[in-house]
Amino acid sequence: MKSDVAITEDLELQLLLDAIYRKYHYDFREYSPASLKRRLTQARTNFACESLSQLQHRVLHEPGFLPQLLPFLTVQVSEMFRDPSYFLSLRRQVIPHLMTYPSLKVWVAGCSTGEELYSLAILFREEGLENRTIFYATDINTDALARAEAGVYEQDRIALFTENHRRSGGKSSLSDYYTAAYGRAVFDKSLRARTVFSDHSLVSDAVFAETQLVSCRNVLIYFKRELQDRAIGLFSDSLVRKGFLGLGSKESLRFSSRASDFTEFDREERIYQKTAGL
Ligand SMILES: C[S@@+](CC[C@H](N)C(=O)[O-])C[C@H]1O[C@@H](n2cnc3c(N)ncnc32)[C@H](O)[C@@H]1O
Repeated sequence: MKSDVAITEDLELQLLLDAIYRKYHYDFREYSPASLKRRLTQARTNFACESLSQLQHRVLHEPGFLPQLLPFLTVQVSEMFRDPSYFLSLRRQVIPHLMTYPSLKVWVAGCSTGEELYSLAILFREEGLENRTIFYATDINTDALARAEAGVYEQDRIALFTENHRRSGGKSSLSDYYTAAYGRAVFDKSLRARTVFSDHSLVSDAVFAETQLVSCRNVLIYFKRELQDRAIGLFSDSLVRKGFLGLGSKESLRFSSRASDFTEFDREERIYQKTAGL
């Protein structure tokens, strides 16, 4: 049985999320509460608030407070060629199918600060598909989107990115794609020339394009089941028949009500192929 303290904290969490939604239309009400609570505990420490109710008070009464709280509500962690075996599978198994399309649209949903987008852009360039592809990079965090669009990463992250790129079957050197300056790596802007960056929420927005590949990794893990189903429904509605969906290493379609739209393409790498539809 839950303690009185835990019951009160659950109630405070709901009230805080309601306040954020009703005042600012950011909807975190169907996010997984366990991970939200962990991050809001950090926010309480950071803002020296004793309770979630105090955070709620500040959200309602301080106009500039929500933008400061948002980074605690979403997790921005990313890296280039994260889980290299996923990108190796895209390269070896999925790209040969994508080669058969004269033009391609790729949706990177929950792109955070852009590492996944640049990884795909590099992979598509190396495989000769870049010129026929439009990428859509979407997220709800507009600061992260701005950083994605800038494509500048701390130099001390580049060793890991380089190793991941190599393990993903990279056909060139990662250093071909960036210029090092003042402790940072500035990625070549030609990599994002065919990318539309956009504020789009998997909670409340609709499908906006017909796509052949959706990569949505390490995003659904933060959602409750119904919200995961909504997002997977969006991906299914966006994908052409025989299109591909890539999820994160801890995510799967197994319990989704839309699972029957897809078949497992590479179980290990969480890559699915849409088989429903005409
Ligand atoms: C952990 S990052 C994943 C980054 C990248 N996909 C990767 O795997 O490295 C999760 C991202 O999902 C975004 N996100 C959270 N809720 C979202 C929503 N409702 N719609 C779109 N993106 C969302 C967050 O802002 C964050 O940038």
